[in-house]
Amino acid sequence: MFGTATYPHMPATFLTDPSVWDAYIGEVWHAVLRSLALPPHATVIEVAPGSSAKIGHALAHLGFCGDLHIVEAAPNALEALLPKYRTLLPRARLHTHPQSLSAAYNGLPRQPDVIVASHVLDDMLLACARTPATFEWANRYSDHINSATTQAWQVISVNVQTLDDAIKSTVAEALQAIITLAPRHIVMSQYPSATLRDNNLEALNQAALKVFDGVARAVQESFAIQDCTPQLMQLPHYNNQHIGLHVLNPRYWLSCTRRL
Ligand SMILES: C[S@@+](CC[C@H](N)C(=O)[O-])C[C@H]1O[C@@H](n2cnc3c(N)ncnc32)[C@H](O)[C@@H]1O
Repeated sequence: MFGTATYPHMPATFLTDPSVWDAYIGEVWHAVLRSLALPPHATVIEVAPGSSAKIGHALAHLGFCGDLHIVEAAPNALEALLPKYRTLLPRARLHTHPQSLSAAYNGLPRQPDVIVASHVLDDMLLACARTPATFEWANRYSDHINSATTQAWQVISVNVQTLDDAIKSTVAEALQAIITLAPRHIVMSQYPSATLRDNNLEALNQAALKVFDGVARAVQESFAIQDCTPQLMQLPHYNNQHIGLHVLNPRYWLSCTRRL
């Protein structure tokens, strides 16, 4: 049964060592990406990894030796990420784009095999606040929410209209990338973050989910959406509450392929 147990069934290192958590989420991504049968020399665009090597782990499992374009608005996060990716993906060509997604369009390849985005929509929403240091916290991992996050959330959620505008503008940024770049596949995950929930920011989880649903609705005419259930249900730790109910819940994954 998915999500029936609690923390004792989650390895302690998941809670204390971000690299162990990243490797596990990389396994989850590997299961989802494997079903797309990407060629090893594929062209991949990753949006907003921060300093987290989750997608790098997934691509390493696939024996990836293609072109990986990394779009990450925080140069310091990119700097922290690159050594990890060089180690994980020694045969890949890494291209960095230290910009926001909307600023990076011109320098990105058209018709990539896939655009991937692991849990980025909450961060893209917060970036709409344009508060100082929005990106400064991106290269550190903590289960505490720092003041820049809280401040950005206060700005975008100050009233219903502002939050709605931020949601719409984040959906638009993602859709513009999809229209401009014309990928063959898109894979996104946006499960509710336990850290946000535990720090009184469940509303940000919900707002990010609205962005996720907005993107999923908009692409369904041009892309066929795959049900990720078969890939997700074979993964370990499913009986942990957060992992089973959130991380491995197909409701929070979008994997789709352009209709021919
Ligand atoms: C903290 S990371 C977390 C997501 C990461 N992929 C993971 O799975 O843990 C999110 C990153 O999004 C970046 N970001 C936010 N809005 C962005 C945008 N519009 N374009 C590119 N990067 C953005 C931030 O700089 C931040 O480093």
